[in-house]
Amino acid sequence: MKRLGVLLSGRGSNFQAIARNVAQGRIEAEIGVVISNRPEAPGLALARELGLTAVAIPSRGLDRESYDRLLLEELAKHNVDLICLAGYMRLLSATFVRAYPLRILNIHPSLLPAFPGLDAQHQAVSHGVKFSGCTVHFVDEQLDAGPIILQAVVPVLDADTPDTLSARILAEEHRIYSEAVSIVLAGKFRLDGRRIVTS
Ligand code: GAR
Repeated sequence: MKRLGVLLSGRGSNFQAIARNVAQGRIEAEIGVVISNRPEAPGLALARELGLTAVAIPSRGLDRESYDRLLLEELAKHNVDLICLAGYMRLLSATFVRAYPLRILNIHPSLLPAFPGLDAQHQAVSHGVKFSGCTVHFVDEQLDAGPIILQAVVPVLDADTPDTLSARILAEEHRIYSEAVSIVLAGKFRLDGRRIVTS
C-alpha cells in the first residue's frame, strides 16, 4: 500500500477531503503522517482526531535548509511515497524538492500560471477576471510553477468577494485534489516537456 505524507499549515479542509477518500477506498493509499509547521494548525488536531500520526515541526529560528532536513527525516521515518501539500504556506528548498522528483503535489486556488503566491482569490477578484479556479500541480523549485495535473474552473460573479469566490473554488479543490492523487498513485500519466498527459 502506498503511503501519503501531508504537509499543512492551517485549517486542513483539503487534507480532510483526502482523508475521507482514503477512508472510503476511493484513494488506494494510507496516510503515513501529517506534518505541520504550525503546532496550533486546526488541520493537525483533525489528523489526531482521525487517529493519524500528526507531527508538529515548528520552524522558528531555523533556516530553510535546516528546517527542510527535519521534514525529510520525518517523512523518511514514515516511508512516505507521495507528499501532498495541503495549504502548506512555506516554500520548499531545492534539496527537498529534488529528494522527491514528481512525488510532491500542491493545490493552488487559481488557474495557474495566473495569480501565483499569496491571496490568489483576492488577486483574481481585484484583477477582474471572469473565471478562476484551482490547480493541482507537481512541485518544482519555482513557486506555484510545476507541471499541471488537473485544473477546475469556476465563474467569478460581479457580487463576489474574495471569501465567496474562495468558497466556490474550495469545493472544486476538494474534488480535484483526490482525483489527482489517484492519477499519480496509479502512475496514469506521463511527462511530455512540461505537459502532464494522463492515460
Ligand atoms: C486552499 O485554498 C489552498 O488552495 C490554499 O490554501 C487553502 C488551504 O485550505 N493554498 C495556497 O494558497 C498555496 N499557495 P485548507 O487548509 O482548508 O486545505
